[in-house]
Amino acid sequence: MTNPPIKRHEALQPFSREHLLGLSVARDLRQAPEAGREASHEAVDRLLRLWGDELQGHFHDEERLLTPIIDDPALLKRLTNEHTHIAALTTEAREARARNTAPDDALIRALGDALHDHIRWEERVLFPAIEHALTPEAAASLGRETAQFSQTRVGARTAAERRTLDEPCGTRWDLPASSQDRAEP
Ligand SMILES: [Fe+2]
Repeated sequence: MTNPPIKRHEALQPFSREHLLGLSVARDLRQAPEAGREASHEAVDRLLRLWGDELQGHFHDEERLLTPIIDDPALLKRLTNEHTHIAALTTEAREARARNTAPDDALIRALGDALHDHIRWEERVLFPAIEHALTPEAAASLGRETAQFSQTRVGARTAAERRTLDEPCGTRWDLPASSQDRAEP
C-alpha cells in the first residue's frame, strides 16, 4: 500500500516543486559511485548547476521566509545546520571540480544522502509543522513571497529550459588515466 500524496499548502508549493528537482539530483549522486566515473562526473556537474541556478537561492529563501514562522528551536537548528552542511559539501565538490580531480565517492555519497534526507525531512516534518503554525495572515504573506521567487527560478521555467538544466554538462572532466584506472582489471 502506498502513502497518499501530501497536499501541500499553496504558500509552500513553490518550495516543494523545487524539491522535486533536488531529489532527482540527490538520486543521481547516490547512484553515481556504483555507475562509474562518468556518471559521477555528470552527477556532480548537475549538482553544481542546480546549486547556482536554484539551490542556493532556495536555501536562502527558506531561511528568510520560514524561520520567522518556525517556533520550535530544534526544527530551526536542524534547518540551518543542514543547509550549512550541504553548502560546505557542495563547496568541496566545486573545488574538486576546479582542480579537475576525480570526484571522491565518499563525498558524492555524502552529498546525495545529505540532500535526499534534508528534503525528505522538510517535506515530512518541517513543512507539516509550518502548516500547523500558519495563521491566515502569515499564509497570505508567505504566499506572496513564494509566488515571487517561483516566477524567477526553475519552478517557473519552460520545459525546454528545464531540460537544459537536466542535460549532462557540456564540458568534460578532463582526467588523465590514473594509476588506479590502470590497476583495475
Ligand atoms: Fe528545501
